[in-house]
Amino acid sequence: LGDKINKKIINGKKIAKDIKKNVGKGVLILAEKYKIFPRLDMILIGDNSESTLYTRAKRKYAKKLGIKSKIHRLPADISEKQVLGLIDELNDAPDTHGILVQLPLSQHISAQKVIDTIDPKKDVDGFTVYNMGNIFLGYKPYFYPCTPQGVIYLLKSVLGGDLSGLDVIMVGRSNIVGKPLSYMMINENMTVTVTHSYTKNLNELCREKDVIVSAVGNPGMIKADWVKEGAVCIDIGIKRRDIGDKVHLVGDFDYEEVIKKAGFITPVPGGVGPMTIAMLLLNTLKAALILNDINDQDIMVY
Ligand code: GUN
Repeated sequence: LGDKINKKIINGKKIAKDIKKNVGKGVLILAEKYKIFPRLDMILIGDNSESTLYTRAKRKYAKKLGIKSKIHRLPADISEKQVLGLIDELNDAPDTHGILVQLPLSQHISAQKVIDTIDPKKDVDGFTVYNMGNIFLGYKPYFYPCTPQGVIYLLKSVLGGDLSGLDVIMVGRSNIVGKPLSYMMINENMTVTVTHSYTKNLNELCREKDVIVSAVGNPGMIKADWVKEGAVCIDIGIKRRDIGDKVHLVGDFDYEEVIKKAGFITPVPGGVGPMTIAMLLLNTLKAALILNDINDQDIMVY
């Protein structure tokens, strides 16, 4: 039985590792053939501890692949105008390929304004209106948002390349995950039900679906009896839980019970999380190619 359970676990960590390996190879070829060195500039405002951890993790993995990066740490009370000024500078900097503003931002700064000041060709998070709008229309953006791109990759790796006709429920409608991922799944010819905190009978809606994707951050919310036998469960929820003196990360699914019914499930941690970083690094490499008008199949393998 243990072996049967193990086969259901989607090893995002391992899949992300393979992607990062290929990105690393691409970075090497880009350097040797074109003398171009991909660089990611991250803007971190204030001292939110999770945001600090996330940007450090991004920098650590970038470095492993030979991608240059810099974290621009700005004080919490910095003005919106100064942030926009820095983004303008980075937009114009020829050595900067990716620009990422770590979210959330404090109230006195408009996230919409800040994000949409980023050059869409440097928008490695895929959050600008230009990139989002293209996804909405079913056109190719320069960049897909990292977590949604990672989820589509995982779904294709367990279900085969063709997702057409599958019934999926998206729990959560955030701008960084729920909305873009919903449209990306529509573009894959899936039948998508988008739900949120006002949705009625969420459990019954979930029970009918081939795929359940949840990104709300409500630990253990999705119970085994919400899940159809054999359904694919993708857990994007992540919350810290202090148990004794240890910190645990927990997802939106009641993992221990749901895994008995699921066809496949992503663990937390080690599922979607590592894919997000892999996709960011992939997008940074892609940005270096786009900005330099390079179309090289040896480098861009995805
Ligand atoms: N905050 C939470 N997720 C993300 C993300 O994917 N990108 C950025 N920039 N900030 C985030």
